[in-house]
Amino acid sequence: MAVRTVLRMGHPLLLQVAAPVEAFGTAELRQLVADMDDTMRALNGAGIAAPQVGESLRAVIFEVTHNPRYPQAESVPYTVLINPVLDLLGDERDEAWEGCLSVPGLRGVVARHTNLRYRGFDLDGRPIDRTVTGFHARVVQHEVDHLDGILYPMRVADMRSFGFEDELFPDRGALPPD
Ligand code: NI
Repeated sequence: MAVRTVLRMGHPLLLQVAAPVEAFGTAELRQLVADMDDTMRALNGAGIAAPQVGESLRAVIFEVTHNPRYPQAESVPYTVLINPVLDLLGDERDEAWEGCLSVPGLRGVVARHTNLRYRGFDLDGRPIDRTVTGFHARVVQHEVDHLDGILYPMRVADMRSFGFEDELFPDRGALPPD
């Protein structure tokens, strides 16, 4: 297990469409997910996608318990999600601040679907099928975007709502929940 270097916006691998995982439960996949886990925790991320640690594969992990970067966020169970498929439910969207380990120090307001069904597989190939809302839905949409070469700044509709977090939120206690 190891904390890996997180690729930052500008690295071409972050713009690729990642390939599906072909084999579950392998030593290679376990190693990759263990490294993603170590890296996410070391950086207090809410989630991380395999391309961010340099592997162009359709695997993401996420978890929100008490996260200092998201102090007011509702909790999201630890999940390893492989080969995800999203169904965006309805037209309702909400806007909230997002950050990304590949875009360090910045935050931007992004509209995401409020209601989401997601399906995929865990590390051993067992199916996952959940219908979720709110912050959980937002985290999954953000992470799965990484598998399609999309970084959240590409979804910021108003660039006046994009900037450095210490300028936007000089009082860390006022950091928004998303
Ligand atoms: Ni991200």
